Amino acid sequence: MLDALLANNREWALKKTQVDPEFFKRLVRQQTPEYFWIGCADSRVPANEIVNLDPGEMFVHRNVANLAPQQDANYLSTLQYAVHVLKVKHVLVVGHYGCGGVRTAVESQDHGLIDHWLAPIREVAHEHREELEACPSETVKLDRLCELNVIAQVRNVATNPITVAAWRSGQDLTIHGWVYSIADGLVTDQGVSVSGLPDRMRIFGI
Ligand code: CO
Repeated sequence: MLDALLANNREWALKKTQVDPEFFKRLVRQQTPEYFWIGCADSRVPANEIVNLDPGEMFVHRNVANLAPQQDANYLSTLQYAVHVLKVKHVLVVGHYGCGGVRTAVESQDHGLIDHWLAPIREVAHEHREELEACPSETVKLDRLCELNVIAQVRNVATNPITVAAWRSGQDLTIHGWVYSIADGLVTDQGVSVSGLPDRMRIFGI
């Protein structure tokens, strides 16, 4: 059943080696990515492909609705490894318009376990309820909530003790908030890049 995928894999590895015979040999020795991507698990938002990066160039964590919850061991482990061991220079929190997780979070019906995971998005929606209620359509409202969610997750990363420890030790580290559009393949920077504690105070007041 998976013959096609395995054939694709052989072809891909061959092409990589034809272009650059040392490609895999170099990767075996080490990974030195400068970027850490926190994105949605949605199949339409493939991290490396969107920014045209090769294996070895970006460390990636993906979950439903690109959350960075302060007590999630999976996210915290990847953040710690990315920041303290790999010493990435940029953390990219990347949401996307039309996110099913964001839509599900604010639907009134019961979805079971996923409602627990998505609780932080309902909090963001509640915090910004006046702005969201003023949106001219449901689509505009959900798109804005995708942006607000990314901004909230940038704040989470920027207030995380792992990030703060890196800044205090003088490490060069910037957290960015991006939203990707499935409709045209383009990323929009949300203008909330945080490079240290003064930036964090200016942008988030914390
Ligand atoms: Co999504």
